[in-house]
Amino acid sequence: MLSESNLNKVEELRKRYPTTQALLLPVLWMIQEQEGCISEESMKYTGALLNIPYGHILGVVTFYSMLQKKAVGKHHIEVCTNVSCMLRGSGKILEHIEKRLGIKIGEISQDQKWTLSETECLGSCGTAPMLVIGDEYYENLTLEKVDKLIDSLQ
Ligand code: FES
Repeated sequence: MLSESNLNKVEELRKRYPTTQALLLPVLWMIQEQEGCISEESMKYTGALLNIPYGHILGVVTFYSMLQKKAVGKHHIEVCTNVSCMLRGSGKILEHIEKRLGIKIGEISQDQKWTLSETECLGSCGTAPMLVIGDEYYENLTLEKVDKLIDSLQ
């Protein structure tokens, strides 16, 4: 299931990590980058590849919000709604994005371009409210900044 070049990366990583469990997150990340999400089939594949029980892999995939069990849109907007962001208006930002994109939390737009999710604290409380798209943080958000961001990604 992993491409040949990713399998080569796994073999290189095996030399650097003392146990196969330590390889789990890098391998899951590779699968997500390659496939767009980590399906049940991919979790079983990873278990066989690293000799790790499926239940452990499922626990890891469901624990980390950056790991996706189902396909997401081209732009996956994750709005932090934890305490600092909530106190600084993340609820209004979420509502605004829902109206602007015509999707609710957990949905994917019909054109497959957008997915909207809530997320827990991403360690950027000092610049709340914030959201993340992929590995990019967007901080000190206002509704105007959100509009500009969405416009720039259209
Ligand atoms: S509460 Fe939002 S980044 Fe910490």
